Amino acid sequence: MRRTLAPPFRIKVVEAIRIPSREERERILKEAHYSPFRIRSEDVYIDLLTDSGTAAMSDEQWAAMMRGDEAYVGSKNYYRFEEAVREITGFEHVIPTHQGRAAENVLFGALIKPGDIIPGNTHFDTTRAHIADKGGKPIDLIGEWLWDFDHEYPFRGNLDPARLEYVLRKYHDKIPFILLTGVNNVAASSPISMENIRETRELAERYDIPIFFDACRFFENCYLIKMREAGYGGKSVAEIVREALSYADGCYMSCKKDALVNIGGFIALGDEKLAERCKERLVLYEGFPTYGGLARRDLEAIAIGLREGLDERYLEWRVRQVAYLGELLERAGARVIKPTGGSGVFLDVYSVYPHLSEKELPGVAAFADMYLEGAVRIVGAPFPVDFVDLDRGEVERRTFEFVRFAIPRRALTKAHMEYVGAVMERVVERAHLNKGFRVVYWPEILGHFFARYEPIS
Ligand code: F0G
Repeated sequence: MRRTLAPPFRIKVVEAIRIPSREERERILKEAHYSPFRIRSEDVYIDLLTDSGTAAMSDEQWAAMMRGDEAYVGSKNYYRFEEAVREITGFEHVIPTHQGRAAENVLFGALIKPGDIIPGNTHFDTTRAHIADKGGKPIDLIGEWLWDFDHEYPFRGNLDPARLEYVLRKYHDKIPFILLTGVNNVAASSPISMENIRETRELAERYDIPIFFDACRFFENCYLIKMREAGYGGKSVAEIVREALSYADGCYMSCKKDALVNIGGFIALGDEKLAERCKERLVLYEGFPTYGGLARRDLEAIAIGLREGLDERYLEWRVRQVAYLGELLERAGARVIKPTGGSGVFLDVYSVYPHLSEKELPGVAAFADMYLEGAVRIVGAPFPVDFVDLDRGEVERRTFEFVRFAIPRRALTKAHMEYVGAVMERVVERAHLNKGFRVVYWPEILGHFFARYEPIS
């Protein structure tokens, strides 16, 4: 029975979606300058742009929203939210924010000074941008395995302890903290192992450097630890989360992912003084510490979503749905980065477009073809990685072709996945006709959001 992919929920509310005609799709793509960020949701049939803020909330969450106590100060929803975050993370001080990058802004502003270096397994784009905004420099401690699709890495998200040791030795007095992201969004949403977390802790302790977690997909990470790491099969995901976070000084979470809400986030800390500094910044950027840029009803939905997100029947179904889409894309003839992990399926885009070079933007080609053939929206863009070259002793900018089919949580059925697989079959058949794309416009900060492209003819 466990193999059936039957979800542990049923559908109570539905939302209509439609496939625009081929002529419409051609026009829409052109008018959107071939960017997924310029297409209206109404014009998309299956939207795999992101797994962030796109989850279907439960009846319990919607009902809880009616219990919003919209007081500016001391709302009862805040206290229920605080209790849930404390119980799950083990951290005493809980600071709500309106989403993940707001938590980054508040926390990093309290910790980073100009010239600082922030090592992490691999920093996501908003994370990089907020580090840079505070005058810091992100360094990604991922190893060569990020680009190795010939082998399966159960913990592709890990940082390389040798690279961490090197960076700590060289720059320790410029490092205010180490950031661990699990699952590692850039590294194909693959988890970071408990062993790697413990090793990071040991190294960090030698230099007395704190560790923080970007925990937006941490329940998926810890479910994958349970599935893949020796010694964890018999533990609950909640226990694994607590253990992993016990090696850290704090965490922040975009609740738009594993906490199954459409908006919200938090920072959770052990240190009271740091929490006070964050609260001062919070008032400036987000709001009073008992609402943090959210309606109080949202805090109630998060409190419930955090517990639902930890439900192992749900996590089992979720991770299997991602794996199933991976199987379908592979059957369609594309190479998938394996094993699949949390947020969605990542593609080796050159397996579909072997004739295109990095400059010819195969990720944009994949997006354009998926949209043209089936009104499926994905994202494909070169992603910057500040890689530590140990041989040369330098940090060098590399790129990773980030081509992601992100699956919204609890929102899509098995048949939707099969539709996406069928569209991929057409895309694979016709990919040789795509001559690639060129950038027409690319601003400095978070360029891929605002970029415009045109086909190379
Ligand atoms: N950290 C990670 C690892 C993320 O993936 C994201 C967002 C954030 C922080 C920022 O959180 O969106 O709530 O402000 N990731 C989304 C994505 C946008 O599509 O992967 P946010």
